[in-house]
Amino acid sequence: MNVAVVGLQWGDEGKGKVVDLLAEHFDIVARYQGGHNAGHTVYRDGQKFVVHHIPAGIFHPHVQNVMGNGMVVDVEALLEEIAALEAVGVAWRGRLWVSDRAHVITPVHRWLETREEDFRGCHSIGTTRRGIGPAYEDKYGRRGLLMGQVADGSWRSQVEWLWDRYVRLFGPSLSSALGAEWDRFQTVLERAEAYLADAVIQTDLWLRERLRQGARVLFEGAQGTLLDVDHGTYPFVTSSHCSAGGISSGLGISPRWVHRVFGVAKAYCTRVGAGPFPTELHDEVGQYLRERGAEYGATTGRPRRCGWLDLVALKYACDLNDVDGIILTKLDILDGLPRVRLCVGYTLNGQPVEGCPVRADRLARVEPVYEDWPGWSASTYGVTRPEDLPEAARAYIRRIEEYTGRPVVLLSSGPQRHETAWFRPPDEVLQPHPRP
Ligand code: GDP
Ligand code: IMO
Ligand code: MG
Repeated sequence: MNVAVVGLQWGDEGKGKVVDLLAEHFDIVARYQGGHNAGHTVYRDGQKFVVHHIPAGIFHPHVQNVMGNGMVVDVEALLEEIAALEAVGVAWRGRLWVSDRAHVITPVHRWLETREEDFRGCHSIGTTRRGIGPAYEDKYGRRGLLMGQVADGSWRSQVEWLWDRYVRLFGPSLSSALGAEWDRFQTVLERAEAYLADAVIQTDLWLRERLRQGARVLFEGAQGTLLDVDHGTYPFVTSSHCSAGGISSGLGISPRWVHRVFGVAKAYCTRVGAGPFPTELHDEVGQYLRERGAEYGATTGRPRRCGWLDLVALKYACDLNDVDGIILTKLDILDGLPRVRLCVGYTLNGQPVEGCPVRADRLARVEPVYEDWPGWSASTYGVTRPEDLPEAARAYIRRIEEYTGRPVVLLSSGPQRHETAWFRPPDEVLQPHPRP
């Protein structure tokens, strides 16, 4: 069985921990979209590590890791990420494969994004300012620079052409604003050409061949379903296909190879950046969740907005991805609250709303309808058996299952691998096929 792990909210659900945990059961971990806007936190022997481009399978020596064609790559940031892995003794050569058709993020992309965000003023999206959106714009504008061109040295003429185009579009002032950075970008590409040449391959061919040979693949989503460019709270989204639908095109494999889909959801909601968030809390409970949950961006350090679990939005994401089960994280952050709330519906102008109106202009106008549930005072941190959870916490989980119609298969009870409680036996959830 090949399994996908996708985010069901606005990102930062704990995908890094979950992928690192599950990777043990797989031969390959493959990422299919996004870039270093992602920040996936993994604990290794008590040490925290955040991966941005590189799949979270990298910490298991037996696992091969793929960065698919659906990704965008900041070459300098990728080199730094590789160096950080080397510094902690993680070998990557022969285990990390980058698609020759992943697109390169350039300094002009970052510059354009900053200008665009500033231009939008109070309507800005609150992006990570990593150049993600403009890099995808150039991809779909059919003028992007490919990782394959970096690796085979053919990037020079393309970089020259791109710069010429940008200067014609934005005027000679671009040279004073960005000329030095553009030169530095070229020295980074020089370095990458030599350093990454062997790692950049046609990953779709490589992956299809291994799938045919029976390799087990874990597909790692970045961001979350509500940030998906098509299915999220547009325009307050990222520029890629984060939901399970992106796997096939982002890796160059048939959807038939995705056998199971699991969605990761936090026991409450967070969001970084702007956009509608019906259950957002502006009071001391929101502050409590932020401090207790250490809800500060793994990529940008920005404080995350916090609120109650929104079951309407969660059910939408479960249905969109047709998840086989939910992996629930950070329930322990709710420990000690006298009351916990679940959003079970929306109203608009006093009338009940059908389903989840995901378009930002509509979602911004809904009012949440809450159910109040008793909290629990006992700690759930580090719990490894469902039966050790307080009854109130189990009731909370049962309500999530009932509302979404999906089973919670795994509970993450802390940031480390062992802080995990399986609700179903791992073999039943992951269905490993017998090895030849
Ligand atoms: P990702 O982007 O989905 O990989 O999530 P992030 O790594 O950005 O944010 C999740 C944060 O929660 C990280 O700091 C994790 O170490 C931490 N975390 C993950 N699962 C749990 C959990 O069950 N309990 C607690 N307390 N922290 C968790
Ligand atoms: P992981 O993989 C949370 C948000 C940004 C902004 C919007 C668009 O760690 O869950 P972008 O830079 O992508 O154009 O920004 O998307 N965003 C994330 N929020 N987790 C992420 O990744 C995110 N990646 C992008 O904050 O609101
Ligand atoms: Mg993150």
